[in-house]
Amino acid sequence: MIQNIAVIGAGTMGHGIAHVFARSGRKVTLYDPIEESLLAAPEKMREELQFMADADYIPQEDVERTLGNIIICPNLAEAVKDADYVMEAIPECMELKKALFAQLDTLCPRHTVFATNTSSLKLSEMIADLPAERQKRCMVSHWYNPAYLIPIAELSKFGNMDEEVFDEVYALYEESGKQPVRVLKDIPGMIANRILHAQAREVFHLLDIGAASYEDIDKALMYGPCFRNATTGMLETADMGGLDVWCAAEDNMFPHFNNSDKASDSMRSLVAEGHYGIKTGKGFFEYPESEREEVQQAFYDRLIRQLKVSETYKK
Ligand SMILES: NC(=O)c1ccc[n+]([C@@H]2O[C@H](COP(=O)([O-])OP(=O)(O)OC[C@H]3O[C@@H](n4cnc5c(N)ncnc54)[C@H](O)[C@@H]3O)[C@@H](O)[C@H]2O)c1
Repeated sequence: MIQNIAVIGAGTMGHGIAHVFARSGRKVTLYDPIEESLLAAPEKMREELQFMADADYIPQEDVERTLGNIIICPNLAEAVKDADYVMEAIPECMELKKALFAQLDTLCPRHTVFATNTSSLKLSEMIADLPAERQKRCMVSHWYNPAYLIPIAELSKFGNMDEEVFDEVYALYEESGKQPVRVLKDIPGMIANRILHAQAREVFHLLDIGAASYEDIDKALMYGPCFRNATTGMLETADMGGLDVWCAAEDNMFPHFNNSDKASDSMRSLVAEGHYGIKTGKGFFEYPESEREEVQQAFYDRLIRQLKVSETYKK
C-alpha cells in the first residue's frame, strides 16, 4: 500500500499534486532545490485548499488536516528515504529528469515507484540507464493543470510494470479523487493532450482563415462539442448521433480540415511578438494588469463549479 509519497519540484504542478495526495491521507514530503520555490509552496497550498473549502468542495477541517500531512523538505535524500512513490514535477528536460531518476535510485528503497509528470518526453529514454528491476517500477503519471482541480491523471501501462504494482498506483489515484486513465502505448502526448491539440489545430486554423471571430470560435466550442463532451465522451456521443451520419460527415469534411504538422501562423506570430497570453497581458485576447487576477480567479471559479457538478455523474 502506498502511504509515503515524495513530490519532487514544488512549482506549478508539484505543489498542487502534493496537497491532492495529502488530502487522501498520505504522508507527503515536498522537495525543491530552489529555496524560493519551496518556501512559497505552503502558502500556495493553503490558499488552494481554502479556496476549495470556501467553495464547499471540501470541509473546512480538511485544510489543516491536509497541510498537517505535508512536510516541506530542503534535502532530497531525506525527502525520499521512506517513499513508496516518488512523483517528479521538475522542468521538462530529459537530462534533468534522467539525472534525478539516477540519483533517486541510489536514495530510495527498492520497492519505490518512480513517476514522471512529463508531458512530452519518452519514458523509455528517461529510464534507460536504471537497473532492470527499477525500470519495472517506473511510469508516467501525467496530471493536468491546475492539478487539484482537473480530475484526469494519465497512467502509463506500457512499461513492463507488474500488474499488482500498477493496480496499487491506480488505487492511489482513485482514492485521491482523481479519474485515472490507463495509457497502453508510449505515444507522444499520451491521450488527453493528443485530443486537445487535434482540436486546437482546427480552432487556430479557423482563426487563420477568418472563418469566425475569436469570441465566436470559443463560443462554438463551449456551447457545442465541449458542452456535450463535459458529460459524454466522443465515442458515446458518436453512438448517440448515429455512426452512419458521423461516417458520412467525416468523409465530406476531412478533406477540408487542417492537417499541418506545425503550430498555426496566428499563434506563431503572437509568440514572436512576445504575446504569450495572460502572463504577458495579451494573447488572442487582452488582459490589462488591473484585471488579470480577477480573470484568473474567474477561471478557477468555473473549474471548481464544474468539478462539483462532475462528482454527480461520476462513472
Ligand atoms: N504546467 C503545466 O501545465 C503542466 C501540465 C502537465 C504536466 N506538466 C509537466 O510537469 C513538469 C513540471 O512542470 P511545472 O509547470 O510544474 O514546472 P515549474 O517550472 O513550474 O516547476 C518546476 C519546479 O522544479 C524545480 N526544479 C528545478 N530543477 C530541479 C531539480 N533538478 N530537482 C528538483 N526540482 C527542480 C524548480 O525550482 C521548480 O519549482 C514538467 O515535466 C511539465 O512538462 C506541466
